[in-house]
Amino acid sequence: MKIIGPFKQVVTLANLPLRGSLQDEQLEIREDAGIIVESGKIIKVDDFENLKLEFPNAALEEIEGEQIAMPAFTDCHTHICFAGNRANDFAMRNAGKTYLEIAESGGGIWNSVKHTREASEDELLKDLVVRIDDLVRQGVTTIEIKSGYGLKLDCELKMLRAINHAKEKTPAKLVPTCLAAHMKPKDFNGDTEEYLNYVQEYILPVVQEEHLAKRVDIFIEKSAFQPEESKKFLQKAKAMGFDITVHADQFTPGSSRVAVECGAKSADHLEATSDSDIDYLAKSDTVAVALPGASIGLGDSFAPARKLLDAGGILAIATDWNPGSAPMGKLLTQASILATFKKLSTAEVLAAITFRAAYALGFSDRGVLAEGKRADLVCFPTDNYQNVLYRQGALEPSAVYIKGNKY
Ligand code: NIG
Ligand code: FE
Repeated sequence: MKIIGPFKQVVTLANLPLRGSLQDEQLEIREDAGIIVESGKIIKVDDFENLKLEFPNAALEEIEGEQIAMPAFTDCHTHICFAGNRANDFAMRNAGKTYLEIAESGGGIWNSVKHTREASEDELLKDLVVRIDDLVRQGVTTIEIKSGYGLKLDCELKMLRAINHAKEKTPAKLVPTCLAAHMKPKDFNGDTEEYLNYVQEYILPVVQEEHLAKRVDIFIEKSAFQPEESKKFLQKAKAMGFDITVHADQFTPGSSRVAVECGAKSADHLEATSDSDIDYLAKSDTVAVALPGASIGLGDSFAPARKLLDAGGILAIATDWNPGSAPMGKLLTQASILATFKKLSTAEVLAAITFRAAYALGFSDRGVLAEGKRADLVCFPTDNYQNVLYRQGALEPSAVYIKGNKY
């Protein structure tokens, strides 16, 4: 057992609802506090001096200078397993081409597929581990990672195996997702429905048998898969026992409805969603995941996060870190920018990158600093938690703890 502290403030995020809007007055902020940790879990958060008296045998892990602590973050949507580079897409977009035009002309996702197919599993793993380390240093200790640059059996498996092997190289929690339905591969002769049948018949059973992923994702969009065929695919994936999630309403509205109707854990993107779709989503248990990094990367509008929260929905924010639409990969910067454009409270943003994002991945044991929760925390060198979002990511963590151990 040990005591970590003293912290000027501990923002626990305890006792907040899973859904709907939040005000900063609702935040529990413990001043001059400490955290008792045992076996990777939190025993108690309280006044530091009181804790020392109550737990006289706890080893002291002293925090130097003025620091605050909060729950470590969850990034519930990334594509950080990839090879190659899409800087040229970025330049082409800024020269006037749209994301969909670039995709249709053979660039975009397909470019990453070509490079990822050429890379070995070890090469993928090496770059992946560097990106994971980057996220952990930002305070992100639970990371969802999608396949989806293979688009055929061997390469989808190669990606998922690399992601699973990365678990041995990091103490962070990695959550693999099979996104073989990212787009119809250019070298597939059939139609999209046939490709989805191929994924379902040949890829998903192996993914399941080899325990490579418990989640399945699909990109519903004009350039990818259509709502009706996607619905059938999602229902089958769900019937196989997978959790499902959807890339929804990125450029065209309507697919977040499919996500809700299929009982998806989350509907992600939502830049082009409509008011009625937002209402429908907000009334469901499907988490709405805003991806401000994709809006910044493509110059698109932000997901209507304010409306979603006001309508009582569950909002998470994730990086979407990928080589094409969202190459930045900085969670706090993106979440903080979304807050300024959509007028989100600090409490709403922190909830969206901690316990609400964890919920999207099916975890209820993290994202809150309270008894029994995982001792994953991020510390910042400041005396006031407000500085974290105010500095838009420029205030970097002074320490990150995973299961009570300093990273
Ligand atoms: O979430 N929208 C589809 N998929 C990714 C982009 C992947 C890529 O461009 O490589 C996204 O933005
Ligand atoms: Fe994505």
